[in-house]
Amino acid sequence: MSTFREDFLWGGAVAANQFEGAWDVDGKGASVSDMCTNGSHTTPKRVTTKIEEGTLYPSHEAIDFYHHYEEDIALFAEMGFKVFRTSINWTRIFPTGMESEPNEAGLAFYDKVFDCCKKYGIEPLVTISHYELPYALVEKYNGWEGRELIEYFMNYCKAIFARYKGKVKYWLTFNEINAGTMPLGAVLSTGTIKGYSGPVTEVPNKPQERFQALHHQFVASALAVKYAHDNYPEYKLGNMICFVTSYPATCNPADIIANQEHMREVNWYCSDVQVRGEYPAYAQSIWDKHGITIKMEPGDEEILKQGTVDFYTFSYYMSNVISGDPEANKGEGNLIAGGKNPYLESSDWGWQIDPQGLRYSLNEIYDRYRIPLMVVENGLGAKDEIEADGSINDDYRIDYLRKHISEMKKAVEDGVDLMGYTPWGCIDLVSASTGEMAKRYGFIYVEKYDDGTGTLARRKKKSFDWYKNVIESNGENL
Ligand code: BG6
Repeated sequence: MSTFREDFLWGGAVAANQFEGAWDVDGKGASVSDMCTNGSHTTPKRVTTKIEEGTLYPSHEAIDFYHHYEEDIALFAEMGFKVFRTSINWTRIFPTGMESEPNEAGLAFYDKVFDCCKKYGIEPLVTISHYELPYALVEKYNGWEGRELIEYFMNYCKAIFARYKGKVKYWLTFNEINAGTMPLGAVLSTGTIKGYSGPVTEVPNKPQERFQALHHQFVASALAVKYAHDNYPEYKLGNMICFVTSYPATCNPADIIANQEHMREVNWYCSDVQVRGEYPAYAQSIWDKHGITIKMEPGDEEILKQGTVDFYTFSYYMSNVISGDPEANKGEGNLIAGGKNPYLESSDWGWQIDPQGLRYSLNEIYDRYRIPLMVVENGLGAKDEIEADGSINDDYRIDYLRKHISEMKKAVEDGVDLMGYTPWGCIDLVSASTGEMAKRYGFIYVEKYDDGTGTLARRKKKSFDWYKNVIESNGENL
């Protein structure tokens, strides 16, 4: 008997903008990600208002899944994937977001992808919006600050819900929706960057715009959930949170309170709305802190109530430390910064590795909401070397994943209802934070490099066979 359920959804996760390439092929329009240049751990990537001649935009070719999908899905099937989390690139379907009719060529591409998954018995898990906001909506409405986007998003949802009936059952509305609570989230998540061109790390901090945009995303998410429930009862809709749990720096009550406030604002605020169907009691204190006012329309509260999600999903890479002294909270990390934890080691990109934090997070989230959970991103971004014999011995990645799966297992024993696990970047792809290829997560190596060169050939890493065995044994052989 294994600890994980019999129908546990083992698989992997990616996002269209980070791996499809073909950014302007078959009628596709530009998304915010397509306006982002490459960068590195030390030099931030930039967002531009126009495509600059001679500048490298890594999403434009990425790893060209668009023309390699059959080969790639066959490799996922060889590992035994039960589920494949990918996103639909909004601008393949509606190039500017504002068309009244969807782009047939874009729809046809995902037919081929989902049919190929079906051939291997792989269930798609589709993120509707994963950092792929049409750039035309940034130019016209300052992204999600414009209430008009709710209707455009619904047009998009209606088109894909209708088209992929019978092919897709699991949907996530917005990837890492809580990115919008943080300054950096203005670029990829809320798209509140009209006219801004420059390093993504220096985007002006405008909480009024971001939190208003988030309100529109909450309404859009709830409307999509309700529409799906009413019209496609077989569909299951989830939210998606960038969950970076944080610990108080000490047992000083000032640190405990600072951490509680931090956890509420960045980790709980969005899911409290999406799971419970209303703003939490502490929401006003966050708006007061930022000196902002959220404009709501009559009926919005009712919509939020009617569109609560069926399951909760999240990304988990690292944990943080929060102190009552804001100066101590300026470390590195995945969107959410915090202080250094002396008990933990960090990845080469400064993300603090904390497998036990995953068990802790699963328990905290499940205690709060009591709906099924899924870990839809987890993994180690690392530099891989190809040995002289062609092998790639990524034992560090195996070690990271093994420890996290072990802790997931303990969480299930603690009583958490866990549906599945899709480690991030199951095939190497472009890094969302830095635009690099060198920050690799995959079980499958792709010969594509930071200067844009590479044959795009695929090869299995050591972790490929290891993960195959994990799936085969339903998580028993780690
Ligand atoms: C999550 C995102 O924040 O982390 C992904 O949903 C992203 O899009 C992943 O790629 C890993 O981050 P990075 O910056 O290493 O690519």
